[in-house]
Amino acid sequence: MTVSYQLKINGQLMQADVAADTPLLWVLRDTLKLKGTKFGCGMAQCGACTVHLDGKPVRSCVTPISAVKERAITTIEGVADSELGQQLQQAWKILDVPQCGYCQAGQMMSALALLRQFPQPTDAQIASGMKGNLCRCATYHRIKQAIQQVAKRTDKEAS
Ligand code: FES
Ligand code: FES
Repeated sequence: MTVSYQLKINGQLMQADVAADTPLLWVLRDTLKLKGTKFGCGMAQCGACTVHLDGKPVRSCVTPISAVKERAITTIEGVADSELGQQLQQAWKILDVPQCGYCQAGQMMSALALLRQFPQPTDAQIASGMKGNLCRCATYHRIKQAIQQVAKRTDKEAS
């Protein structure tokens, strides 16, 4: 049975008429044509589909649309809406982080959530915050450098 959902995505209200058990990933990609969020494993194992619900990273491939409720959804298309997101995009660009690029939307969503929680993360916090995001091209070192670069910049701004 199809249900009509009112969703708050990247600050905009959007409607999706879908079955209650449809994963959020497919609502974003197929129904709403927000294709930046990627499908990798479909089993919460790779992190490619990571989006935020009220600022917290979730795996949209295993999140049924009925579980979203009133929570604000942020996808990679909304990353530039915050200053921190813009800094992250810039660091990704300067350090030329992506290789094939497939995992990078999910990587950035996890990195953004990590930096919100820990503005100056330790190595252990970076490792723990990013461990659920796999990269077949092994860009892990550059991802870590980009996170550290943003942390350094925000540290300077605060001082
Ligand atoms: S596609 Fe969702 S975690 Fe892999
Ligand atoms: S850049 Fe290719 S999978 Fe990560």
